[in-house]
Amino acid sequence: MKAPVSFTIVGSLIGLLGICVVFAAVGQRRDAGEGGAGRVATVAHGLPVSHPVHQGMEEFGRELTKLSDGRFKVRIYPSEQLGTETEYLEKLQQGSIDIAKVSAAPVGNFVPLFKIFSLPYLFRDHVHYWKVLDGPVGRDLLDALGQTSRGAPSGLVGLGYYDAGSRSFYSTRLITSPADLAGMKIRVQQDPVAEATVRAMGASAVTMSFGELYTSLQQGGVDGAENNPPSFHSSRHFEVCRHYVLDEHSSIPDVLIAGARFWESLTEEEKGWVREAAIRSSHFQRKLWAAETERSLAELAAAGVSITAADKSKFRKASQSVTEQYATGAPSEMVRRIEATR
Ligand code: GCU
Repeated sequence: MKAPVSFTIVGSLIGLLGICVVFAAVGQRRDAGEGGAGRVATVAHGLPVSHPVHQGMEEFGRELTKLSDGRFKVRIYPSEQLGTETEYLEKLQQGSIDIAKVSAAPVGNFVPLFKIFSLPYLFRDHVHYWKVLDGPVGRDLLDALGQTSRGAPSGLVGLGYYDAGSRSFYSTRLITSPADLAGMKIRVQQDPVAEATVRAMGASAVTMSFGELYTSLQQGGVDGAENNPPSFHSSRHFEVCRHYVLDEHSSIPDVLIAGARFWESLTEEEKGWVREAAIRSSHFQRKLWAAETERSLAELAAAGVSITAADKSKFRKASQSVTEQYATGAPSEMVRRIEATR
């Protein structure tokens, strides 16, 4: 049946209004804030507000407002409210969000050099991880974010790293060695290296966003996943997955990224504030990390989750072929520099 013309017109107007509201809510803009013209930056991340990443983003906002003397504010959209991490990267390029915190894992689909962060057992330990990220290699990789592998602008500007610890398997069945992964379906991020790692260890890899995972675990779409303790705990995936094996197969940092469109709209002074606020929030967030990891593990244990220390050498051996496959060409030079970092 055809809708009466007036309904169609009213419907279209409502639709148009909706689109305007969305653009007004998430687009970069200068606002008439308290005390005159101010700027509100839209910041997105996919984790719950109880996660240390959210606290880091709040610190970023506080610092930016302080540095800019109140002229700059941020509005944070957590928990995948504005889409998945891959979508954030697209939205940064399009200019519909200003800044996002994503895992380095999906970034590799936009800037291939970033794939090295997903390589199994890339870092010797947590001290080595921060030595690399804070040093020339970390800086060069942030700079590399500006270009695709063909040298074209990527539409992304790297601001800094957040701690994301190490990723370990959690599942509905006990895993103590790679042999236990046979026949299991394990969720991974949108990241070919993570897929290859899980396959090399004997499981099937299923990609989906973090936000879709709880339901998939609950409905048996996947048997497990892998992540750091704060993410496993704050997502409440432990309500379904009662086993956590600390094999720490990868340590993929989180990255704070601005969209080039947003960036180009800033004055040099404003860019300086944003960069400085990112650095300060990174130092704040990494300080929280160790305590939050300990607290998450204690709360997981108190909730009855079995937490097993793994014989990492077995997991390392099973995933060795992935490093051989991906650390070739330009990435191999980066991997060499990472290994040489002391
Ligand atoms: C980590 C990371 C997130 C990412 C998540 C995932 O928690 O910090 O940015 O979304 O892993 O597995 O999807």
